[in-house]
Amino acid sequence: MEKNFKRTLITTALPYANGPVHIGHLAGVYVPADIYARYLRANGKEVLLVGGSDEHGVPITIKARKEGVTPQDIVDRYHTIIKKSMEGLGISFDVYSRTTSDIHSHTASEFFSRLYANGKFIEKTSLQPYDEQAGEFLADRYVVGTCPHCGSDRAYGDQCEACGTSLNATDLINPHSALTSAPVTLKETSHWFLPLNDYQEALSKWILEGHKEWKTNVYGQCKSWLDMGLQPRAVSRDLNWGVPVPVEGAEGKVLYVWFDAPIGYISNTKEILPDTWQQWWKSPESRVVNFIGKDNIVFHCIVFPAMLMAYGDGYQLPDNVPANEFLNLEGDKISTSRNWAVWLHEYLEDFPGKQDVLRYVLTANAPETKDNDFTWSDFQARNNNELVAILGNFVNRAMVLTHKYFQGAVPTPATLQPIDETLFAEILDIKQRVSEKLDTFHFRDALKDAMDMARAGNKYLQETEPWKLAKTDMERTATVLYCALQLCADMAVAFEPFMPFMAQKLRLMLGMESMAWDAIGGRELVPAGSKINESELLFEKIADETIAAQLQRLADIKEQNKIASWKAEPQAADVDFDTFMKADLRVGTVLECSRVPKADKLLKFLIDDGLEKRTIVSGIAKYYAPEELVGKQVVFIANLPPRKLKGIVSQGMILSAENADGSLVVISPSAAVVPGAQVK
Ligand code: MF3
Ligand code: ZN
Repeated sequence: MEKNFKRTLITTALPYANGPVHIGHLAGVYVPADIYARYLRANGKEVLLVGGSDEHGVPITIKARKEGVTPQDIVDRYHTIIKKSMEGLGISFDVYSRTTSDIHSHTASEFFSRLYANGKFIEKTSLQPYDEQAGEFLADRYVVGTCPHCGSDRAYGDQCEACGTSLNATDLINPHSALTSAPVTLKETSHWFLPLNDYQEALSKWILEGHKEWKTNVYGQCKSWLDMGLQPRAVSRDLNWGVPVPVEGAEGKVLYVWFDAPIGYISNTKEILPDTWQQWWKSPESRVVNFIGKDNIVFHCIVFPAMLMAYGDGYQLPDNVPANEFLNLEGDKISTSRNWAVWLHEYLEDFPGKQDVLRYVLTANAPETKDNDFTWSDFQARNNNELVAILGNFVNRAMVLTHKYFQGAVPTPATLQPIDETLFAEILDIKQRVSEKLDTFHFRDALKDAMDMARAGNKYLQETEPWKLAKTDMERTATVLYCALQLCADMAVAFEPFMPFMAQKLRLMLGMESMAWDAIGGRELVPAGSKINESELLFEKIADETIAAQLQRLADIKEQNKIASWKAEPQAADVDFDTFMKADLRVGTVLECSRVPKADKLLKFLIDDGLEKRTIVSGIAKYYAPEELVGKQVVFIANLPPRKLKGIVSQGMILSAENADGSLVVISPSAAVVPGAQVK
């Protein structure tokens, strides 16, 4: 291990309980944190893996209002889903609690009170958006109006979703309340601010000089904040959901969610270790590591450390904050509100027993240094070509051959030959590489290196060919399989942090006792003569249909989103009356209708236009069966010049309306009229 310390408190960003957990959360935070925790435990370190739901903040109140339920209902629902699904994926939390717990409100409240009593805050009044009708101050999200940039009339007070611009509520044109639609006024209110500028020097020294080893994305973001110069930040809000501000006369005010949430790490530690929690936070033998996503960097590296400095009392600042970038899904940004995600609880239902496949893919593709993309085809390929073909294949061959030639007992080796020695040396080298990478939070590379064990195993079997040896030299066969089984055992240990379900299966198959990291590379992990159990396949291929079903689900969501976000086109430029009157619009009766061969969009019509029969080709074949339209009346433009489509001369154009999903609906008169009737 790189550094010497006794205990590591690993925290994971508390997910907002306004939706379930998705693969972006997992790849960014929970899977790497769990790998790290398991790795340290295998090394005999004391570890506490702390998590919980972040149950305050404005988005939760918005969701509740939309559904007509209370914020408490919302967080109860999602906290339960999140907690259960994290367990399902094997995230080995020592505690997973929530910020609506009593212990948390007490802890957060006491934290604020102490800072308040010690004069650590400044109090400032400002004008804030207010809804006279509701008698409430409005969070920026609750102010809607017209975007000053793009003119969209659905912009929010923090952002315009039409053009993506970040806004202040006061930027909006014609701002009104999302609660009552009343016009927004500004009203004076006072809040407490933590003067971050007072901590500028201490923070700069601590991070820029003291933590040059932090990931470059984290260090860089901190440096740019510090270079800009820190400003006081409000730590309270006018809102009726949160931890009440524990100051007289502060009725109706709560702690800002980003003030109380990180204190949740402390509350949750207290909850699980009521007597000894302080040694995890305040002892120099302990260290704290925060796993987060990149949007949380400033809060964990600047704001929360400043809060801890202000509090004093021996609280340690984090030793490292290995923040990740974002994971996208099939090329698009993951979004809870647009339902663009692979939800963990749904994955666990759709892929029972395949927790490790997801853990593997998310680690192999982790957004450690840049944003990355999750695709279902990559998921399938990594399962089939790596887990099944490389890892599973090696273990299976070693197990099956042992059952076949040695009745399921680890054979007794003779003197090792150079090729066997090389294998053991290689394992020690890989162990070294994997350890170094895990120590420095390079999980993706660590996993890649660990897979070299399986590659080395396959190569070893390929070169020694025990299935051939068994015909001539049982002693040598025994030695080869002995070595191969040791490697299987090494892999059970080395892969445990990454794929604990597979590791447990392998461990049981081999009848292993210890799973200590130190044992990797040893020569007697599974001793000669010990029994091995029936061999089970560790991984199985994932079929094309399974992947197709997931892709279809995503396609359906895209479609739904398109419909939900549909907006009428802005009105076209004026057309003068005479020009419009030149278009000769008429009603015709459909006499015949048929598909156009080799053109899956086109239908060919024969129309009675009151004068003669005319042929018109129209691109609506996806939305109508030809028979449906025979006998119907349609509106068409009669005086367009004829056009050739797929070899057919079309004499006009049938009018249709385009629906939100892009489908077309033919325009018909609301009652039957004579064919050839003009549309005026
Ligand atoms: N809920 C926040 C988010 O999802 C993270 C809070 S982390 C904590 O971005 F430190 F505040 F707990
Ligand atoms: Zn806009």
